[in-house]
Amino acid sequence: MDTLKVNVKHALGYVAQAEVATMLPEVLVAREHLLKGDAAGNDFLGWVDLPAEIDPKMIARLKDDVARLSQKCNLLVVIGIGGSYLGARMVIEALQSEFASITPQREHPYVVYAGHTLGEDYYHQLLELLDREDYSVCVISKSGTTTEPAVAFRIVKSHLEKKYGKQEASQRIIAITDARRGALHDIAQQEGYPAYVIPDNVGGRFSVLTPVGLLPIAMAGYDIDRLLQGAHDMRTICRENNTLEDNPALMYAAVRNALYRHGIKVEMLVSCQPNLRYLAEWWKQLYGESEGKEHKGLLPHSLSITTDLHSMGQYVQDGERLMMETMLRVCNPNARVAVPTDEQNLDGINYLTCKTLTEINDCAAEGTIQAHVDGGVPVVELSVSKIDEYTIGQLIYFFEFACGVSGYTLGVNPFDQPGVEAYKRNMFHLLGKPGF
Ligand code: PA5
Repeated sequence: MDTLKVNVKHALGYVAQAEVATMLPEVLVAREHLLKGDAAGNDFLGWVDLPAEIDPKMIARLKDDVARLSQKCNLLVVIGIGGSYLGARMVIEALQSEFASITPQREHPYVVYAGHTLGEDYYHQLLELLDREDYSVCVISKSGTTTEPAVAFRIVKSHLEKKYGKQEASQRIIAITDARRGALHDIAQQEGYPAYVIPDNVGGRFSVLTPVGLLPIAMAGYDIDRLLQGAHDMRTICRENNTLEDNPALMYAAVRNALYRHGIKVEMLVSCQPNLRYLAEWWKQLYGESEGKEHKGLLPHSLSITTDLHSMGQYVQDGERLMMETMLRVCNPNARVAVPTDEQNLDGINYLTCKTLTEINDCAAEGTIQAHVDGGVPVVELSVSKIDEYTIGQLIYFFEFACGVSGYTLGVNPFDQPGVEAYKRNMFHLLGKPGF
């Protein structure tokens, strides 16, 4: 089994190895809270056993719906915000070609997103696209009442019904929502949309391995069984291994908490490939919403290298000393591209001839780690063998489990998000919503 690895050696100039080691009892206690469900937020621990307990009947039905809908359309609109879209987008963007949107012949529907923004121009452009394309819709909202996806769904549903008629439109919509409550639940019932349930005990940011993530990912043509297998295998590692060295989630939770106690305020997830930018967006929500409470928690930020070394590199090297980096390394590319020979060498890069881009990128990453460590930034390295469904499944479960352990170690409830409500109250008041 190719397993994700954590290497903390480049953080040990900032926090002593012995100090990281002393975190072990704390992270073990935090893990016990997750596994026993005896601490705050214990009504939202359904994700802990999801990869082992996922209902095969639900998966079979989901695959049938995916096959049926895929026949009907070349585009899928996924409507959702926050935890109701970031997980699917992270996996799809990691696996699909960067140029999928302009690839003319596609085997599977191309996925576009709505409900994650209120930008008017965005919806105008989306509707122009939907005029031209044959499409279906997957609308996702756990509460069923979130304003942004509700507005987007009303706009897209109205377009879909005008384009295909109400009857056919109802065959092109899949709803993913609460089993019993909420406006989306009621609409789906009344209109007869095929529907899937987000379990009560799984919060939005932990829901990628429920139909919330699985349905769009399968529609885009990716292997959800491998994704779940990767998560399942990582779950075993996270539950059964009791040392920091053998348990990547415990090690990651331990080192980031140790660094936080040493005054580090910001954690940057650094990826070396552009297709991981939504992994960073998903991770930011997961850690920001889980830990940013009671005026505590590392602020999650992200960098893509080498791109951002030419924009943020100066600050990281030389600005305020408040950050750590967690660098996600991918050992092998899925395809090789090497620098071609050029006898004239006008560009002066013949010393790179025949080197693959991964070799060059690896040197950039090593050089960056060394420079940042020298500049006072501790670096934690995560590495996976390559990017595919299996390793992404591992990463998902690793980050989720480590987040639960880390949040309890920090002393917060990692599974609520009271701060998200504040803007909503003000917005509803300004919009004149009854009762606000
Ligand atoms: O993680 C969360 O709980 C949030 O990001 C929600 O997923 C987001 O606010 C959308 O909520 P809902 O799925 O109820 O529409």
